[in-house]
Amino acid sequence: MKEVCVITGGGSGMGLATAKYIKDRLVIISGRTESKLAAACEELKKEGVEAIYKTCDTSSRASVAELAKFASEQGVIKQVINCAGMSPSMTNAEKLFRINAMGTVYVNEEFQKYMDKGSVICDVASNSAYALPGFMTKAVKFAYKWADKDEDKFVNFFMKLAGKISDDYMSAGMAYSFSKNFVTWYAAKSAFDLGPRGIRVVSVSPGLIATAMGNAEVEHGGDLIKKACEERMGEADELGYCIATCADPRNGYLAAVDVLADGGSTRGNAEFKHDPLAPLKMAGIIKG
Ligand SMILES: NC(=O)c1ccc[n+]([C@@H]2O[C@H](COP(=O)([O-])OP(=O)(O)OC[C@H]3O[C@@H](n4cnc5c(N)ncnc54)[C@H](OP(=O)(O)O)[C@@H]3O)[C@@H](O)[C@H]2O)c1
Repeated sequence: MKEVCVITGGGSGMGLATAKYIKDRLVIISGRTESKLAAACEELKKEGVEAIYKTCDTSSRASVAELAKFASEQGVIKQVINCAGMSPSMTNAEKLFRINAMGTVYVNEEFQKYMDKGSVICDVASNSAYALPGFMTKAVKFAYKWADKDEDKFVNFFMKLAGKISDDYMSAGMAYSFSKNFVTWYAAKSAFDLGPRGIRVVSVSPGLIATAMGNAEVEHGGDLIKKACEERMGEADELGYCIATCADPRNGYLAAVDVLADGGSTRGNAEFKHDPLAPLKMAGIIKG
């Protein structure tokens, strides 16, 4: 039986870049746009990757269940890399929250049914997971526990919070940060749920990366570039290597942790390049 790696969001950006490092097994890339996936498969084949595709919308449990079943029919699922996601400039708060947060629940829950000892799930979060003040993420953690029990209660709770902000982009930005903070939490929870079966779960949080998504966010999130050690955006290829490494079964003791691959921007923002006046500047109260 073949060994299989599934990459959601594998048709572009970091998912596609990750696939280029998986040369020892069948790679199944997925996303919603068939033409994008077909072109990505051709690109991967040229790079020596054995790749096929199947369309899937990770905001639908039925669609994810279909992908998981399809993958299990192609061979033994060894790696699941959940890269599918949307950002604030792409859609509204609820849609992105459902894709990023519920999509992660569906992927982890549906794929584990077909996974066994020595396999890995790697959920892609974001350094936005660290953008909210600590007291805020601590205060809402009780609601994270609803995600796999009462989906509507979970989503509605965070939509109420995001809805308190009148600006559409900022509201979606808050939903994005909560969704990605949730991803880091849920990946760790999954690691403890699935660990006894020998299934490892880890998350990776990229900083601002020069993909279609990252480039679309530069206008709003670009100030973080200056906070990074090298004061630059990351490259998709750098994150592809990082994600592939974290998801490599040989990295067997990396579990229940979030790997923050953001060029140092979160640490810079919090400490080494901290600007105490930043919130006032952002609010337009002072210039700078
Ligand atoms: N780029 C950054 O700066 C950055 C920073 C931090 C975190 N991230 C995270 O990294 C991940 C990858 O992003 P990227 O930068 O590589 O962006 P990207 O190039 O836009 O790739 C995202 C992929 O996800 C797919 N996708 C979107 N919604 C989907 C859905 N509902 N179901 C299935 N597939 C879906 C898209 O394909 P279709 O539209 O065809 O479905 C696309 O191929 C995302 O989770 C993102 O939130 C990105």
